[in-house]
Amino acid sequence: MTGAGPRIVLVGSMGAGKTTVGTLLSDALGLEFLDTDQVVEAAVGKPVAEIFVDDGEEHFRALERTAVAEALVSHSGVLALGGGAVLDPTTRELLAGRPVVFLRVGLSDAASRVGLGVSRPLLLGNVRGRIKQLLDERTPLYASVARWTVATDGLDAAEVAQQVRALVDDGGHD
Ligand code: S3P
Repeated sequence: MTGAGPRIVLVGSMGAGKTTVGTLLSDALGLEFLDTDQVVEAAVGKPVAEIFVDDGEEHFRALERTAVAEALVSHSGVLALGGGAVLDPTTRELLAGRPVVFLRVGLSDAASRVGLGVSRPLLLGNVRGRIKQLLDERTPLYASVARWTVATDGLDAAEVAQQVRALVDDGGHD
């Protein structure tokens, strides 16, 4: 895959820091940042948490699939995918050959980064238990689509962004 599409695609769990790191990266590189959750929210006119409650997860996943597919064509900056986007096989196929970075995070750091906020419907009720389950289920999927992996535990967002830049600068010219 050459030329078109995002310069960097960030994948990983809730609490991996995709939005924070993506914003830092895009500022540093003079690129635009796009987050597929924001695309879906703008399209529907309500927050992700409300889409889950009102319309269900399946509906959200369909909107997310479309948002990812369109962003992979139209966005040339830094793109962050929602944590569950890689569940979709079509999305995984579309990510093949792209500059995808997996921001890996362990249970402890992910739980402390997401806190106890209600904006993440999949974590309601038992934040640590749900994150553990999601990490177990999804880590192989993140790894399967990623060209690079950055282990983020114990690092702040600026340190993670630095590592992503080093990897992409080094090997991003495909
Ligand atoms: C989800 C992650 C969220 C959001 C939705 C579902 C998931 O995005 O898309 O709440 O399934 O992991 P972030 O990873 O940006 O928090």
